[in-house]
Amino acid sequence: GRRVVVTGASSGIGLALTRRLLAAGENVVAVDRAACPERAVETLIADLADAAALGRALSALTGPVHALANVAGVPGTAPAELVLAVNVLGARLVTEALRPRMGAGASIVNVASVAAHRNVLGEPAVDALLAVADRAGLADWLARHPLTGPQAYDTSKAAVVRWTRALAGRWVGSGVRVTSVSPGPVETPILEDFRSTMGSRRIDHAAEIVGRHGDTDEVAAVVAFLLGPDASWVNGVDIPVEGGLLAARAARET
Ligand code: NAI
Repeated sequence: GRRVVVTGASSGIGLALTRRLLAAGENVVAVDRAACPERAVETLIADLADAAALGRALSALTGPVHALANVAGVPGTAPAELVLAVNVLGARLVTEALRPRMGAGASIVNVASVAAHRNVLGEPAVDALLAVADRAGLADWLARHPLTGPQAYDTSKAAVVRWTRALAGRWVGSGVRVTSVSPGPVETPILEDFRSTMGSRRIDHAAEIVGRHGDTDEVAAVVAFLLGPDASWVNGVDIPVEGGLLAARAARET
């Protein structure tokens, strides 16, 4: 099997993805602040917000990496700086650390969100965020773009979508693909946090529109597809996985 690194593998979408990859005979290495409950999986315990600790944990990994899923994320109940540190800086640090271990045919999949569509900042601000190198730079950026936790969450996911496209363009000649998925509401522990920041009515209204919330495995299936060779001609795109929520909203507005 191939060797797939999965961040956020200890819960929710990342755990469903891990189980799916294991069932397909892949080898999974988890990167998470909590140990992955799957016994076949080695967990590199690290806080994605702590660059030094993350670097130490990842340096324990030797040999090739065939695929990387950046799944870990924190909701807007956390302070804005932490949301951006984990969802944007953390994903970038993991990707930059593992990129030298990846060759042609490798695939990186980032988990964004339909929340990316709610981002209130324009592209220049998001590009400036993507140029931030560390927590100090993040604090400077936030001083220029003050955001609440929920706004930081939306912005972090818009940044993930934009970063995905930029990386894919940069690496297209190397045979390393980079794609993202944007889930709508999925039944995981994070959904309660979204209910508290966005209001349960708004979250559960999404389920009324499309019939239900998503299941973790419905997102994991798309991520697994993108990570594997069946998606060899899919690159640089974001795939919404939301049961038609965006289409339904657009239809209501016209
Ligand atoms: P979850 O809370 O079930 O899992 C998140 C995982 O990330 C956990 O294993 C947690 O330990 C890990 N993690 C969080 N912060 C970390 C840190 N600082 N360092 C190391 N590990 C950390 O959440 P879920 O729902 O599976 O979320 C996965 C991804 O999907 C996130 O990026 C989230 O933003 C995104 N998403 C989730 C949606 C939903 O409705 N559940 C909708 C759209 C996107």
